[in-house]
Amino acid sequence: MKNILLLGSGGREHALSLSLASSKLCGRLFIAPGNAGTAEVGTNVNLNPIDFEAIAGFIVDNAIDLLVCGPEEPLVKGLRDHLEHTPGLENVGIIGPGKAGAQLEGSKDFSKRFMQRHSIPTASYRSFQHNQLEDALEYVAQHPLPIVLKADGLAAGKGVVICEDTPTAITTTRFMLEGAFGEASNTLVIESFLKGTELSVFVLTDGKEAIVLPEAKDYKRIYDGDKGPNTGGMGAVSPVPFFEGEFREKVLQKIIHPTIHGLKAEGIPYIGFIFFGLINQDGEPYVIEYNARLGDPETEAILPRLNEDFLDLCIETVSGKLKSRVAEVKPDVATTVMLVSEGYPGAYEKGRKIEFSTASNVTKDTSIRLHSGTLLAPEGTLTNGGRVLAITALASNAHESRAIAYRAVEEVSFTGKCFRNDIGLDLM
Ligand code: AMP
Ligand code: GLY
Repeated sequence: MKNILLLGSGGREHALSLSLASSKLCGRLFIAPGNAGTAEVGTNVNLNPIDFEAIAGFIVDNAIDLLVCGPEEPLVKGLRDHLEHTPGLENVGIIGPGKAGAQLEGSKDFSKRFMQRHSIPTASYRSFQHNQLEDALEYVAQHPLPIVLKADGLAAGKGVVICEDTPTAITTTRFMLEGAFGEASNTLVIESFLKGTELSVFVLTDGKEAIVLPEAKDYKRIYDGDKGPNTGGMGAVSPVPFFEGEFREKVLQKIIHPTIHGLKAEGIPYIGFIFFGLINQDGEPYVIEYNARLGDPETEAILPRLNEDFLDLCIETVSGKLKSRVAEVKPDVATTVMLVSEGYPGAYEKGRKIEFSTASNVTKDTSIRLHSGTLLAPEGTLTNGGRVLAITALASNAHESRAIAYRAVEEVSFTGKCFRNDIGLDLM
């Protein structure tokens, strides 16, 4: 039996907690800080995931065997490195890379150079430092449109700007290099625009071998038809129908294997998830970004499809027993619809009471409610974030899965509830 500490508080973590808790190998499960959903699965603890001292203390006090890190920030800031240097924690397994490996997500410039060194397909680019503003402006002025500007570091999902015209690109380049995102935009990656359909592919790796988890498509824009500003993700579907045959083989051979081999060849230890944000441009896969974690809301769509003991996979990973393969997956289609607070991704109200009506016979056994921004209060479950709840439905085909998901969406209500109506439609 393993005692587990899971870090994070979103829908991803609620889905992770359910998968971990369903294993026979799960001992005590703590979630820090968690949400109203995870409170029903394990014990929420009031710990900040970037307070490394407090996490180390909790691990010792509660005989934790396995730490699973949901979000990227603790990893990029060196959570693993800190714990590895704390006496007494030598036997704790950690899912999540150290600072060096987390650079794949924490620095776009690092990840672009890594891909170049290992001939991994990605958009052509150049990087500029804050003292190279004039060179950057000259480069932008002659670059074909659209052009993509990316702050090097973590910028809370706001560091990527796609510019359709040169004057906007010039203004934005100046804005970013002059410190719009603080240190995160000290370096600016300027890259070509790729046109195609995006998909998210995930592996769990020990740095040598990798297990391929189910893939998903995320819906990033706030409104139907991919209109409006980007969000953290408004829904997801898994599987992605075009991730098969030759295209899938290209992803494995040209992207996943060279990434794992590249990390190994460069002596970068990596134990954890790699999220490959890919785009399919005319049948060729390109890497848009790497993340050192699972996606949200993709996790809410992929984990319910996994036909293996997820905790067992984590244990194999941290004990170096993993064998490269594709995970066993249920044939079912998962559709995840995110319920968000009115105003999101801009300003929104919190503290609205969420009412759950009794699930119908149809949705009861085929859908799950995964809490994202919720809070358990004396008066009931309250909204506590922009993304409030993810509804995932599983069915034998895409039409049925979509129909059940939207039916289950109607069984949750709160003032200002918004969602996209077209999740999964484009893939039918
Ligand atoms: P990133 O944070 O790198 O994932 O970028 C955020 C979003 O911007 C991606 O999910 C894509 O939709 C878009 N994007 C980033 N880079 C490119 C590119 N080179 N071509 C087209 N779209 C891009
Ligand atoms: N849904 C995209 C992400 O987690 O980054």
